[in-house]
Amino acid sequence: MTGRLEGKVAVITGGASGIGRATVLRFLDEGAKVLFADMNQATADETVGLAAKAGHGDRIAYRRVDVAQEGDVKGMIEAATAKFGRLDVIFNNAGVGGAFGPLDEVTVEDWDYTFAVLVRGVFLGMKHAIPVMRAQGGGSIINTASIAGLGGGAGSNCYSAAKAAVANLTKASASDLARFRIRVNAIAPGVIWTPLLGSTSNRDLDERVARAQPWPDRGRPEDIASAALYLASDDAVFVSGHILTVDGAILAQGPNVWGRDETSPMLRRTGVNKGTTGEASVVRR
Ligand SMILES: NC(=O)c1ccc[n+]([C@@H]2O[C@H](COP(=O)([O-])OP(=O)(O)OC[C@H]3O[C@@H](n4cnc5c(N)ncnc54)[C@H](O)[C@@H]3O)[C@@H](O)[C@H]2O)c1
Repeated sequence: MTGRLEGKVAVITGGASGIGRATVLRFLDEGAKVLFADMNQATADETVGLAAKAGHGDRIAYRRVDVAQEGDVKGMIEAATAKFGRLDVIFNNAGVGGAFGPLDEVTVEDWDYTFAVLVRGVFLGMKHAIPVMRAQGGGSIINTASIAGLGGGAGSNCYSAAKAAVANLTKASASDLARFRIRVNAIAPGVIWTPLLGSTSNRDLDERVARAQPWPDRGRPEDIASAALYLASDDAVFVSGHILTVDGAILAQGPNVWGRDETSPMLRRTGVNKGTTGEASVVRR
């Protein structure tokens, strides 16, 4: 069977762990050639090992890159095109938790570090991929935002601001680049159980997530890889400027004033409330 990314070349940043690693492996499974970049050589070697074990050793390349450094990112794009001959997809995904704590205690250095990785890193990936994609007649840019960038309460103040920048950069550039057939989309993950969250047996976090997230199962890196696959593939040929939320309905739930189980006033009875119209409301059950 032909893979959904057969013949395509993808660059994925942050491919040594979590969402990036799951996406590297999924893209390879779907027939792509993948160059992934990451700062962490040790965990990158593990990703290469997993790809080789899955029989994809000849279609994967790794390059040590700090996405905040322009020279590194330029070299990453050059290495991908030199090795695989073209560039169809870039997934700007590398990230860190960054600065946290009350805003009046955040240092300028920590603030700038966070924005350098999360925002400058995405900008640089786009900047150096665009000329190659333009010359080729098109491509797909996918950025990792976060639900933290779409509203309060899901991340630190600095992280949330940086991810909001990624979401808006995605939208603003999508319209600029459409005439070159370059699609630009972002994924806004909810809580995804990756090493970034720390220990996966964190009970406190489990309880907090259970309250915030309606979907009963944990978000997995593979769930984001599937979303990235869609945006990378030709199935999404008319999709650009979209922020794809993948969060087990966290944002959809919103303030959750009424609850969502059988004790909720919105669910425990059935009928129609006709308000102050003067017509009678009906309770059917
Ligand atoms: N896990 C979540 O719940 C969640 C939610 C929303 C958004 N995200 C975002 O998803 C992306 C991936 O996160 P993850 O959960 O897979 O984390 P992770 O820690 O498992 O993986 C992130 C990878 O990025 C690499 N990296 C960090 N800074 C880098 C730099 N400057 N240059 C190159 N590589 C660098 C790390 O070495 C690591 O391998 C991040 O952008 C993160 O902000 C994660």
